[in-house]
Amino acid sequence: MQILRDLPALRAAVDMLKSDGKPVVLVPTMGALHDGHMALVEEGRRHGRHVVVSIFVNPRQFGPNEDLDAYPRREAKDAQMLQAVGVDILWAPSVDGMYPAGYATNIRVSGISDGLDGAARPGHFDGVATVVTKLFNQVRPDVAIFGEKDYQQLAVIRRFVADLDIPVEIIGLPTQRAEDGLALSSRNAYLSDDERKAALALPRALGEAKRQIEKGDPVERALARAIATLAAHGFDPIDYVTLCDAATLEPMIVLDRPARLLGAARLGKTRLIDNIAVDPT
Ligand code: PAF
Repeated sequence: MQILRDLPALRAAVDMLKSDGKPVVLVPTMGALHDGHMALVEEGRRHGRHVVVSIFVNPRQFGPNEDLDAYPRREAKDAQMLQAVGVDILWAPSVDGMYPAGYATNIRVSGISDGLDGAARPGHFDGVATVVTKLFNQVRPDVAIFGEKDYQQLAVIRRFVADLDIPVEIIGLPTQRAEDGLALSSRNAYLSDDERKAALALPRALGEAKRQIEKGDPVERALARAIATLAAHGFDPIDYVTLCDAATLEPMIVLDRPARLLGAARLGKTRLIDNIAVDPT
C-alpha cells in the first residue's frame, strides 16, 4: 500500500491503477478506523476493484465548539489495518495541502443540508460537501462508498454529485453495529462505561418507534415516546428524533412512503446519531 500526501504523486498512482481497466473505489474517512469503515473497504474490494482510502480530519466540517482538536487521530494503526486488507493507496493530505493559503471556495447544498444535523451543526454540511468534492477531484474515483449511519451526509453527497454532474457512482452501505446494536462510530471512543450502556437507548428507542409507526400508531406519539426514553437514559440535549422522507429528508407526519427515522442527542460530552428505515408496507 502506498501512503501518499501530495497531489501529483496521488494522480500518478491513480493513473497507474486505472491502466488495467478495473474501477477505482474511494472510501473517504477521517481515520480512527473501526469495523464500520472496514466494511466499506471490504465492499470496495469486491469484484477485484482498486481501493483508495482517504484519511483527512476536515476542519471545515467542525463548528467552533466541536471536537476538532480532540478527534481521535492514529494514522499508523489505521495504515496497518488498511495494508492488511490490501488497500492500494492511503491518501492522507495535510490541512495546508487541502486548503492552501488563499483557499476561498465553499460548496453549499441548499435544502437537504438545512434541517436535522445541518440545523444543529451550522456549516457542517458545507464542510463535508466541500471536502468530498475536492476528494473526488483529487482521486477521480469511479465509485465512492459511504455508510448509511451518516444518512443526511449520504443524501447531501448524492444531491451534489447529481447536481454537479460528477462522474462517480455513490454506494451507501447499511450501518455497521456492535453486537448489542449500537451503531459503530469513531466517537464511541469518548463514552465512559456507564455512557456506553446508556447509549444503547438510542438504537432501541428508534427501533421501538419504527415498530409502533409501522403498526399504525400516530407518528407524533411514537416520536414523543422515543424522546422520553432518551431523556430517561440521560441524553441531553436531544437535537431531534424525527421521521423523514427517505430520499428528500422532508419531515413526515404520516407514513405514506418510504421513510427514515433519525435521531441525534448528546450523552455527556458525546453527540450520537443513528437512523433506521421505516417501511409503509
Ligand atoms: O463521514 C466522514 O468520515 C466524513 O464526514 C467524510 C465523508 C470523510 C468527509 O470528511
